[in-house]
Amino acid sequence: MCGIVGYIGKKPAFPILLSGLKRLEYRGYDSFGFSVLDYNPPAAPKPFLFKKTGKISQFEQEFPNPEGEIGIAHTRWATTGAVTDANAHPHFDCKKEIFLVHNGIIENYQEIKNQLIKEGHKFNSECDTEVLSHLIEKYFKGNLEEAVRKALREVKGAYGIAVISEKDPEKIVVARLSSPLLLGIGNDEFLVASDPAALITRTRQVINLDDNEIAVLKPDNFFILKEKPLVQIEWTLEEAEKKGYPHFMLKEIMEEPEAIENAIRGRLLIDEGLVRLGGLDSVQEKLGKINRLILVACGTAGFAARVGEYMLEEYAGIPTEVDIGSEFRYRKPVVDEKTAAIFVSQSGETADTLAALREMKKKGVLTLGITNVVGSSQTRETDAGVYIRSGPEIAVASTKAFLGQLATLALLTVYLGRQRDMALVMGKRIVSELAKIPDLAKRVLSLAPEIQKLAKKYKDYKNFWFIGRKYNAPIALEGALKLKEISYLHAEGVAGGELKHGPLALIDENFPTVAICPSDSVYEKMISNIEEVKARGGPVIAIATEGNGEIKKIVDDVIYIPKTLEMLTPILSVISLHLFAYHIAVLLGKDVDRPRNLAKSIVVE
Ligand code: AGP
Repeated sequence: MCGIVGYIGKKPAFPILLSGLKRLEYRGYDSFGFSVLDYNPPAAPKPFLFKKTGKISQFEQEFPNPEGEIGIAHTRWATTGAVTDANAHPHFDCKKEIFLVHNGIIENYQEIKNQLIKEGHKFNSECDTEVLSHLIEKYFKGNLEEAVRKALREVKGAYGIAVISEKDPEKIVVARLSSPLLLGIGNDEFLVASDPAALITRTRQVINLDDNEIAVLKPDNFFILKEKPLVQIEWTLEEAEKKGYPHFMLKEIMEEPEAIENAIRGRLLIDEGLVRLGGLDSVQEKLGKINRLILVACGTAGFAARVGEYMLEEYAGIPTEVDIGSEFRYRKPVVDEKTAAIFVSQSGETADTLAALREMKKKGVLTLGITNVVGSSQTRETDAGVYIRSGPEIAVASTKAFLGQLATLALLTVYLGRQRDMALVMGKRIVSELAKIPDLAKRVLSLAPEIQKLAKKYKDYKNFWFIGRKYNAPIALEGALKLKEISYLHAEGVAGGELKHGPLALIDENFPTVAICPSDSVYEKMISNIEEVKARGGPVIAIATEGNGEIKKIVDDVIYIPKTLEMLTPILSVISLHLFAYHIAVLLGKDVDRPRNLAKSIVVE
């Protein structure tokens, strides 16, 4: 890791840079360098440059004591380019007017270098950093920080940089992305360093620069600019419009298979039974040591998190708990360095979820985001995360994003499970089944006309129970929420086993129950719950697995979903419930896209 020091003030910069650099020697280095600007207007500024491979002590006798109160210095730990004087920092532009030191790596330096050479730039070294000094030269129109801003927009990688120029001499421009950089605020002087050790003898007042911040240090003042990363909106206008559907909600339900497809695309390594989640690369190691997960979300996203809880415990073997943002933010959860908190949010702007996130960050807990909206607050404030890639979700009632969240939680389960005891065979089984889900989801959507008929049959009931067990208990909650929020009918979701502890009292011929009962490990239990309801005369609609002819004999109506792994049944069962709620609301003449009293993203507490 390279070392950076910079000084601007009323004192000669060189001795200060030298002592700062010596304090960075402990980090190890193979070469070093200085650049000082001697600027006494009206005389033209005279830049001084000295850089060498080897130790500072070897050359101390040779150091001229350059004039000038502005300077930058560097210790190099070679990454790109051999250990040579030319590759040492500071690097400069074609006219040796701009000098720059850098800690980090410019990943796309070769393509930039090739382009700059085509434009006539002459390079003096093989070091990746040098492209920055030539890029700044390319964009320099008299204002150094403007040129630095434009240059940095082209580079990919990590950097802490300090730049001076004889063409805009009375300043040091510094910027940071990933590599640490802090400002030293002294009396009538300002410093920059990659490590407090380098400036502690001059001041104890420091400002840690954040990612994408650019600061300009002047002899008598400094200011910080926040550079907002450019975010590419992937969505087409056509995508953001209704595609001919009467409502955004129906369009988005019909896009649910695609949402699953988008969530899993390029992430399934079927032969290895593994999952690739690039957004977690930076925390992969830490995740391997985590022994407890807390999932926090609100509304529909909260129900996805509850399904995730079952998946993560059963298949990744990690103790997992779920809480809603509005409660979690006021709880005093016991957490430690082996706890990770995962925040699930379509919008990435839900106030309660963000507040819970900030609480966990204050406690130093590793925070991950499962988000749809690119560049949203949640994606910027979590340590790492996974995009669900569902595309724009316009209707207030969340549908396709819920499917994207479920698919992403299944991916995360394999990702974390395979870091632990999940066997190759199980990993392969889950990822190969996940790969089939988009087509199975299309089969559920093909039942839309049938479900519309059912909606016609049940639209005049005023109350509904939704029941499910294990993976489908949260789906019962989601089914009830969807019907509630767009039809304004009273609907409640409850775990099947809870019925006899109270809710059964409400059951009669006017109170239908939707029972989510795929042929899974709790099917028999669900059948006994259905019989409890039928015994009280309650109408029952079952969501059951294709081929299960038996169930027809005990319930009023059945919606069949394709067979799949138990942990993935929620992805198929919920699609039928989204359609059921949609058609009832339409038949009741409701504004399904803009239901009363609700907003798409709840940005207030
Ligand atoms: C769901 O249909 C609702 N719009 C609401 O419950 C929503 O899920 C909740 O507000 C969370 O939103 P988020 O996913 O954007 O954080």
